Amino acid sequence: MTLLPKDPHGCPYLQLAPMEGVGDSSFRKAMASIGGFDEAVRDFLRVPRQAHIESLARQYTPHEIAPIPLAAQLMGSECDLMAAMAREMEKKGAPRIDLNCGCPSNTVTGKGAGSSLLKEPAFLHEVAQSIVQAVSIPVTLKMRSGFDDTSLFKENLLAAQESGIRYLTLHPRTKADGYGPPAKWDLIAEAKALLTIPVVGNGDILTVADALQMVAHTGCDALMIGRGSIINPFIFHQIKAHYAGVPYVPKWDDLMRYFQVYQDSVPEEIPDKTRVNKLKQLMGFFFKGNEALLAMRQTILTSQYADPSAFMQFALPYLEKGLTFFSRE
Ligand SMILES: Cc1cc2nc3c(=O)[nH]c(=O)nc-3n(C[C@H](O)[C@H](O)[C@H](O)COP(=O)(O)O)c2cc1C
Repeated sequence: MTLLPKDPHGCPYLQLAPMEGVGDSSFRKAMASIGGFDEAVRDFLRVPRQAHIESLARQYTPHEIAPIPLAAQLMGSECDLMAAMAREMEKKGAPRIDLNCGCPSNTVTGKGAGSSLLKEPAFLHEVAQSIVQAVSIPVTLKMRSGFDDTSLFKENLLAAQESGIRYLTLHPRTKADGYGPPAKWDLIAEAKALLTIPVVGNGDILTVADALQMVAHTGCDALMIGRGSIINPFIFHQIKAHYAGVPYVPKWDDLMRYFQVYQDSVPEEIPDKTRVNKLKQLMGFFFKGNEALLAMRQTILTSQYADPSAFMQFALPYLEKGLTFFSRE
């Protein structure tokens, strides 16, 4: 059975990308309250040397957004520990384990994990294989196109495939690129031509047109969307509706639920000031993606509220003024 089934209208399998920090549990729950995507990947669980597997594993809740599956992503390079962690994830009910070969953070790459694995295809193969051999659930890998450059791109793709992973997600920027230059979708097409396992296309999908263009240009098997979903939480529904040939108008009530679920899901111990900052971060992305709201973005971001409800009361009229195209029925 395919792991990345298309919907009945031919819409590719849609995944919500892992986004450490911004895309935390509250965000995933808020997104799940709107729906539209088929699966999400949790942000990475770092598996450091001397990791205490059981306590680390507590950070992962496989049924967090049930019935939508939530894959666990691991980042590390100690084969034995990665295998042990993967077994623990499987025991907890993870539907899939994803190996992070993309994180650019220096604290991470310093220890040889994340995008550092792209410097040595043979080592990437070893780490991926240790996970594949440890569990019976599907193992996948998410990678950038290289560390400093793309000179090892093909070697890394083949090393990943030969490790026994089921599919690969490609964010076609090098570690050195960070998030600066546009994602090089040509590289996704190259990966598709080279590999026999499925390839998930990722990077810079902000609109339905981008999603269609990504599929047409690369032939990728599925789509993963990160920042585009913070900017426009309805993007998955819009893509699905396009394939179904039906119009989709986002509902005001859904947007309100999205913000409410987000607020309600922030853990109790988080202080109010931090809650407001989290809401501002989320709103900041949202305002950026809506032309009608762009001019008001600074007003929202520089507002001084210590209480999350007061901040929402303040922000709501701006949303109402800008989002006239939302359905109020
Ligand atoms: C704030 C942030 C945190 C991220 N954290 C992760 C992560 O934990 N694991 C991972 O594989 N990718 C991570 N990424 C990369 C995204 O999953 C994705 O590959 C990248 O943002 C490109 O896709 P997009 O243009 O749709 O956002 C992160 C990206 C951002 C912006």
